[in-house]
Parts: sequence; structure tokens; C-alpha cells
Amino acid sequence: MHLASLLPLIALPLSLAKNISISVGDGGLIFNPEVVTADPGDLLQFYFYPKEHSVAQSTFSSPCKPLTGGVYSGFMPETAEGTTIFQVTVNNTDAIYLYCSQIEHCQNGMAMVVNPPSTGNTLAAYKSAAKNATTVSPPAIAGGVHIDVTLNSTSVSNTTSTAGAGSNTSITSPTTSSEVFQGGAPSRASLQCGLLGLIGMSGLVFAMI
Ligand SMILES: *[C@@H]1O[C@H](CO)[C@@H](O)[C@H](O)[C@H]1NC(C)=O
Ligand SMILES: *[C@@H]1O[C@H](CO)[C@@H](O)[C@H](O)[C@H]1NC(C)=O
Ligand SMILES: *[C@@H]1O[C@H](CO)[C@@H](O)[C@H](O)[C@H]1NC(C)=O
Ligand SMILES: *[C@@H]1O[C@H](CO)[C@@H](O)[C@H](O)[C@H]1NC(C)=O
Ligand SMILES: *[C@@H]1O[C@H](CO)[C@@H](O)[C@H](O)[C@H]1NC(C)=O
Ligand SMILES: *[C@@H]1O[C@H](CO)[C@@H](O)[C@H](O)[C@H]1NC(C)=O
Repeated sequence: MHLASLLPLIALPLSLAKNISISVGDGGLIFNPEVVTADPGDLLQFYFYPKEHSVAQSTFSSPCKPLTGGVYSGFMPETAEGTTIFQVTVNNTDAIYLYCSQIEHCQNGMAMVVNPPSTGNTLAAYKSAAKNATTVSPPAIAGGVHIDVTLNSTSVSNTTSTAGAGSNTSITSPTTSSEVFQGGAPSRASLQCGLLGLIGMSGLVFAMI
């Protein structure tokens, strides 16, 4: 009886947005994990490994080619693991196909999918088609924010400060910067509300137990 009344409280945090860490190029031309299931509101957080990878979005049918309006991290020439992450908010459950736009990386299987359809359009099929594709880098960083994690900072750096982490200066114009910023801000605010709720809820559960 007591347990039953607790269940709704325990179930609630499961519906909150979560952060999904994905390593990029750790030990080879690979995203890890390379098949991800994410809910709307979740944050994809890409950690870059040496030497110079990127995260770019394509369609399933045009592997290694930018999807217009898709996400792009820019090249991230990390000299040590995880100094800057690229963070993308998941807005729906549509499939998101991602590749590294470094020359030959996509052809060699450096691709991943978020929310693959239950049938067809598998990552294996994408990789197979990619072998014969030509890689194209997106024209500009888009659809996410760079976060400096070197000082355990959770503050989102603007593109001026991330330029040092490898962004091409010609594509980090102030216009791009503010657009990226405005897109990211609301989700962070709502995430913080969610976290406070989670903390409060846990306290309540513990108190009741
Ligand atoms: C997710 O990452 C953000 C940094 O972008 C951080 O502020 C937040 O606390 C993290 N949330 C969880 C649930 O770990
Ligand atoms: C790869 O491309 C070449 C040249 O366009 C074509 O002849 C060949 O059939 C393609 N192979 C596959 C597996 O698509
Ligand atoms: C989700 O929406 C935000 C805000 O418009 C955008 O920055 C982000 O790139 C979108 N996520 C995806 C996977 O397209
Ligand atoms: C960052 O966090 C890790 C783990 O919590 C800690 O060991 C390290 O000292 C922190 N570094 C800085 C610069 O605060
Ligand atoms: C952006 O970065 C520059 C250089 O690090 C800094 O001077 C400026 O205050 C930052 N602006 C914001 C809004 O954080
Ligand atoms: C920056 O990008 C532009 C346009 O793609 C390119 O012409 C230029 O060579 C790049 N600069 C660097 C330093 O990569």
C-alpha cells in the first residue's frame, strides 16, 4: 500500500530530460555509442578525441552530405580528450543521422544514428552506402552549442571563446553566435527547473521511506 503510493513519485524523474554522452573518435573512426535512443528535450553531448573530428547531420539517403538546416559542430582539433563538448538538443523522435565530415572518415564508417526507425534505414545500410559517397562539410556551425569543460564549467561559451578550440574563424561570425545562443537558452532553463524538481522529489521520496 505504501509502496504503491510511492510509485508515481519514483516514476516521475524518468520522464525528465537526460544528457547523453557520445564520444567522437575515441580509439578510432567511431562514435560511441553509435545507436542512441533519445527523448525530446534530451541533450546529446559530444566529447571529441584527437585529432580532428566533427559532428554533421545528413539524411539517410545522402550519407556524408550535409542536411540543409542540420546540426554541425565544426572541426574540433582536440589535443586532449574532452576540453570542449558540442551539445545538441533533441526536439522530437525523428531519426537523426550524423557523420564526421573529416576527409574519408564517413566512408570508413564514422557515422551514427539517433532514434533509428524500427524497420529499415539502419546504420549498417547507411555505412554501406557511405563507402561510396563523397564527404562534404556543412558550410557553418549550426544547431548546437559548444561548452568548455576544461574548468568543470557548465557555462556555455560564446563562439568567440570557442574559436580557440578549433572553430574556423570565418564561420564564427557574431550573427551565427547569437542565433546558436538563442536556440539553446530556453532548453537549459527548463532543464534546470526539471533538475530542481528532481532534487525536491528525491528528498520527498527519502523522507517518506
Ligand atoms: C546536462 O548538462 C548540462 C550542461 O550542458 C548541465 O547543466 C546539466 O546539469 C546536465 N544535466 C544532467 C541531468 O546531468
Ligand atoms: C560506387 O560508385 C561507382 C561510381 O559511381 C559505381 O559504379 C558503383 O556501382 C558504386 N558502388 C556501390 C556499392 O554503390
Ligand atoms: C532542436 O531545436 C534547437 C532550437 O531550435 C536547435 O538548435 C537544435 O539543433 C534542434 N535539434 C536538432 C537535432 O535538430
Ligand atoms: C573537475 O572535476 C573532477 C571530477 O569531479 C575533479 O577531480 C577535478 O579536480 C576538477 N577540476 C577542476 C579544475 O576543478
Ligand atoms: C564572449 O567571449 C569574449 C572573449 O572570451 C568575452 O570577452 C565576452 O565577454 C563573451 N561574451 C559573452 C556574452 O559571454
Ligand atoms: C575557413 O573556412 C573557409 C570557407 O570554408 C575556408 O576558405 C578557409 O580556408 C577556412 N580557414 C581555415 C583556417 O580553416
